[in-house]
Amino acid sequence: MNILVTGGAGYIGSHTCVSLLDKGHKVIIADNFYNSRKSTVKLLRQITSKEIPLYQVDVTNQSAVNKIFSEHQIDGVIHFAGYKAVGESLEVPLTYYWNNIISTLVLAKASRKYDVNRFVFSSSATVYGDNEVPFVETMNPLPTTNPYGETKAMCERILLDFSRANPKLSVALLRYFNPVGAHESGLIGEKPDGVPNNLMPYITQVVKGKLEKLKIFGNDYPTKDATGVRDYIHVVDLAEGHVSAIDHIQKGAHVYNLGTGRGTSVLELVKAFEKANGIKVPYEFVSRRPGDIAICYADASKAKREFGWTAKRDVIDMCRDAWNFENQSKSLVEYK
Ligand code: UD1
Repeated sequence: MNILVTGGAGYIGSHTCVSLLDKGHKVIIADNFYNSRKSTVKLLRQITSKEIPLYQVDVTNQSAVNKIFSEHQIDGVIHFAGYKAVGESLEVPLTYYWNNIISTLVLAKASRKYDVNRFVFSSSATVYGDNEVPFVETMNPLPTTNPYGETKAMCERILLDFSRANPKLSVALLRYFNPVGAHESGLIGEKPDGVPNNLMPYITQVVKGKLEKLKIFGNDYPTKDATGVRDYIHVVDLAEGHVSAIDHIQKGAHVYNLGTGRGTSVLELVKAFEKANGIKVPYEFVSRRPGDIAICYADASKAKREFGWTAKRDVIDMCRDAWNFENQSKSLVEYK
C-alpha cells in the first residue's frame, strides 16, 4: 500500500516509516520539521535504500494536503504530526488545540475527498486519565490534566464520528504508552530540542554528561519502590504495531492500546539502563511533577487478539538502543 505518514520525520513517525518500508509498503512523508529534522528523511533513505517522496508542508493547510492526495494514489494515512509537550500545552493551549485538531480535520476531509479509507491516528494512554490499571480500551476515558491530552481525546471523538458517517472507512485509534529506545542502526531516535521532558532522553543526556543528574519526580508514590510506574515500549515494537494496524484494520473506528502490559518503575528503568550499558546513572529524588499519575500500564491483549501484534523487546533492549543512539548521534547543531 501507499501510506501517507504525517510527521514521518519525527520520533515515532520515522521508525514507523522504516517498518512500513521493510514490510513492502510505500511511504510518502508530510512534515513541516517543527520538532524534527529534514536530515532524518535522508537517514531513512539510507537505512531502507528506498525512495521516499517528501512534502515539507504544514498539515493544517488544506490545499497543501489536497495536493499530496492528488499527486499520489494513497491507500492509507497514518497521522503522527502534532504538538506533544504537556507543559507547553498549558502555556499555549490555543496553539495546541489549533494545530492538533485542525490537522486531523484537514486530513479527514482530504481522505473523504480522495476516497482514502484507512486512517490510523496517533493517540495516547493519557486519555485514560488517572484510571485503574491495567488500562483497557473498554474503559471510559477520564479528563486529562492538560490541553495536549484533551486534543488527543477530541481527535479520537472526531474520527469516531467521521467513521460512523462513512461506512467504508476503517479507523484505528492507537493509544501509545511510553515509547523509548531507537532503531538498532543508531541512526534515528529521539532527539528533543532543549532539556528533555521525558525520562529516557533525560537519562541518556545525563550519562552523556550534557545534564548533571537525573531528578526522579517523587519517591512517595504507592508503588513497589515509591517511584512512578509506566509501561515503556520499544519504539520499533510500537512502529511494528502501526504496520499491523494498517494491514488488519477493520471497518469502523477501533481503539487499541500499544503497550507491553508490564509496569516498570523509574528506579527499575535506571537500574536496567545501568545493567544494559554498564554505566552509572547519577540521580536524586525531588518532589512529584504536577499532573503525573502514580501507575500507568496497558492491557495489551486486544491488539494481539485482533491483529496479532505483541511487543517483543524488553527494557534492556530499550536502554541499550536508546544509549546507542545518544552515543552515536551528533550534537543538535551538527544534526540540523
Ligand atoms: C508524558 C506525558 C504524557 C505524554 C507522554 C509522551 C506528562 C505529565 N505526561 O508521560 O502525557 O503522552 O509523556 O511520551 O508530561 N520522570 C522523572 N524524571 C524526569 C522525567 C520523568 O522522574 O526527568 C518520571 C515521571 O515522573 C514518570 C516517568 O518518569 O513517572 C515517565 O515520565 P515521562 O517520560 O515524562 O512520561 P509520562 O509522564 O508517562
